[in-house]
Amino acid sequence: MPEAILEVQHMSVDYKVQFGKIRVLKDVSLSLKQGEVLSLVGESGSGKTTFALAVAKLLAPNSVVSKDTHVFFRGRDIINVKRSEMDKIRGTEIFMIFQNPFMSLNPLMRIKDQLGEAMAVRNKRHRRDSGENKEPKGVEEEISSVLKSVRIGDSKEIMERYPHQLSGGQNQRIMLAMALAERPSLLIADEPSTALDVTTQAQVLALIKEVIKNTGMSMIFITHDLAIAGSISDRIAVLYGGMVQEIGTAKDILSDPKHPYTVGLIESIPSKSKKEGHLEAIKGSYNPVGLENMCLFAPRCPLAQGICREQVPELVRLQSDHYVRCVNYVVKN
Ligand SMILES: Nc1ncnc2c1ncn2[C@@H]1O[C@H](COP(=O)(O)OP(=O)(O)O)[C@@H](O)[C@H]1O
Ligand code: SF4
Ligand SMILES: [Mg+2]
Repeated sequence: MPEAILEVQHMSVDYKVQFGKIRVLKDVSLSLKQGEVLSLVGESGSGKTTFALAVAKLLAPNSVVSKDTHVFFRGRDIINVKRSEMDKIRGTEIFMIFQNPFMSLNPLMRIKDQLGEAMAVRNKRHRRDSGENKEPKGVEEEISSVLKSVRIGDSKEIMERYPHQLSGGQNQRIMLAMALAERPSLLIADEPSTALDVTTQAQVLALIKEVIKNTGMSMIFITHDLAIAGSISDRIAVLYGGMVQEIGTAKDILSDPKHPYTVGLIESIPSKSKKEGHLEAIKGSYNPVGLENMCLFAPRCPLAQGICREQVPELVRLQSDHYVRCVNYVVKN
């Protein structure tokens, strides 16, 4: 069995706000195998970005990560590593693509210099790992080659530009080119196509798939769109109210969903709803007030019953790789 590249255990995160603290991630445990793509799916506010930022140690200063949280990256717990050490890991082994590429690109640097820097980081790592002392040649050619592999058009001209002189789609392609240049072992892509128009979205997704396939990188792919998750991932974790409600292979989640929330998400996929003649969106919205010691989805669940309000359901294992958090699946003695 391939080694787990990332193993997150019992991750809970609070944000300090004016009137106290709000808990936005609750005991999230997830693991990712080498070369695997795991999608994190859930509606806005479910904690997806907080999870990504917590793994990369980029959380806002008002966040508090619980003491039980562990994040093993390649077997080493990075939750308490020093900032300088984490900057190194983030610059070389964990690469994040945000919904807004401007968050990652340096506005004051030309594209070729940013890509050159990413390659320099990789070459330094390679020299360190291999003990070789040779300076690599042909950085400019390599920049041109990675730009071609992300289908950026006139790469010579693009290389000279600054991020603000490019479109959103082009900047996401540059982010992918940076990932290709740096070759991290883990890519975390947080809604990388959400801000783009539909056509560009499809192109960027196809490109991400190609990059992952060609490089063997592992990826955590974050999206609110279950259909997109289904098309890109090996496994899918469904997050609701900061808790994993269901996790399984993409095939199981899409063709045999168990949690009523997952079922609702699937019913909301437009093509499926159209086929059945209606758009069955999940009614209401998540409101954390008064949900202690009960199923977080109960106020919106069509199957809610008394017992759902008496306890937080356990995450129950249904098959080797399929888990669900719903009283309907609690194994009774
Ligand atoms: N720095 C912060 N301070 C206070 N609340 C925050 C902060 N960042 C995010 N939140 C809140 O945490 C919850 C989860 O946010 P987020 O992780 O961004 O969810 P998602 O990415 O799934 O939309 C939301 O209710 C959001 O408003
Ligand atoms: S535990 Fe109850 S409320 Fe929660 S998802 Fe299952 S049936 Fe619905
Ligand atoms: Mg988000």
